[in-house]
Amino acid sequence: MFFSTTTSLLPILTLLLAPPTTAHFTLDWPTARGFDDAQATSFPCGGFNNVKTPRTDFPLSGGPLQLNMHHPRTRVAVYLALGNDPGSSFNYVLLPQLTQTGLGDFCLGHVNLPSGVNVTAGTNATIQVVTNGDPDGGLYQCADVTFTNAALSESHCNNNTNVKVVTENMQGNPNASASGTGTTSGSPSPSPSNAAAHVTAAGWLLGAVGAAGMALL
Ligand SMILES: *[C@@H]1O[C@H](CO)[C@@H](O)[C@H](O)[C@H]1NC(C)=O
Ligand SMILES: *[C@@H]1O[C@H](CO)[C@@H](O)[C@H](O)[C@H]1NC(C)=O
Ligand SMILES: *[C@@H]1O[C@H](CO)[C@@H](O)[C@H](O)[C@H]1NC(C)=O
Ligand SMILES: *[C@@H]1O[C@H](CO)[C@@H](O)[C@H](O)[C@H]1NC(C)=O
Repeated sequence: MFFSTTTSLLPILTLLLAPPTTAHFTLDWPTARGFDDAQATSFPCGGFNNVKTPRTDFPLSGGPLQLNMHHPRTRVAVYLALGNDPGSSFNYVLLPQLTQTGLGDFCLGHVNLPSGVNVTAGTNATIQVVTNGDPDGGLYQCADVTFTNAALSESHCNNNTNVKVVTENMQGNPNASASGTGTTSGSPSPSPSNAAAHVTAAGWLLGAVGAAGMALL
C-alpha cells in the first residue's frame, strides 16, 4: 500500500512543476550586457545602456545566438546596431520575427549579416534580441560584439527537447500554430517580408506597440 501511494504521487508532482512566469528570456551567447528582470522591458537593451567589454567575437560569416526561454510561447526578432556605442540605433534586421515554443535552451542556429551592411573584420556592433514575453510590450537583451574572420571554436548552440520554431499566420490566429510543425489549414503563411519585419521592429523599438505592431505581435 505504501509503495503504490508513493508511485502514484509522481505524475502529480511532475504536473505541479509549473514554468517560471517572470524571468522572460535570457541571451546567453554572445554574452549579454546583463539581465535585470525589473528592467527587461526597457528599450534599448533591457536597461543596460553601457557597452560591456570584453566584447564577444562574432564571425562575419554568421553565427548562433543562444537564448534561454522562460515562457511557453515567444515571438523573437533580432536587430543589429553598428559602431562602438550605438545607443538605440538598431537599424538592421538580423532576423525577422519568428515564433518559438518550449522552455529552456533555444538556439538561433546561423544568423547572417544582411547583405550590403558595411562591416569588416574588427567592426564593433551590438546585437539586440527582442521578444514579446510580456503581452503589452517588448523585452530586450543586448550583446556587444566585434566581427571577426575567425570561425567559432565552440558551437554555442543548444536546443532543449521540445523547443521549436512554429509557423503562425501574421494575424496572430492562435489556432494556426497550435500543433506546431506547419499544419496550418489553408494556404501556407507567407514568410514575413522585410516590410513586415520593419513594422514590427518599429513597434517594439518605440516601446509602444501600435495597431500594426499589435497584429504582428
Ligand atoms: C536549434 O533550433 C534552431 C531553430 O529551429 C535551429 O536553427 C538550430 O540549428 C538548432 N540547433 C541545433 C544545435 O540543433
Ligand atoms: C564603411 O565603413 C568604413 C569604416 O567605418 C567607412 O570608412 C566607409 O566610408 C564605409 N563605406 C561605405 C560605403 O559606407
Ligand atoms: C571596439 O571595441 C573595443 C572595446 O570597446 C575597443 O577597444 C576597440 O578600439 C573598438 N574597435 C574599433 C575599430 O573602434
Ligand atoms: C479557433 O478555433 C476555435 C475552435 O475551432 C474556433 O471557435 C475559433 O473561432 C478559432 N479562432 C480563430 C481566431 O480562428
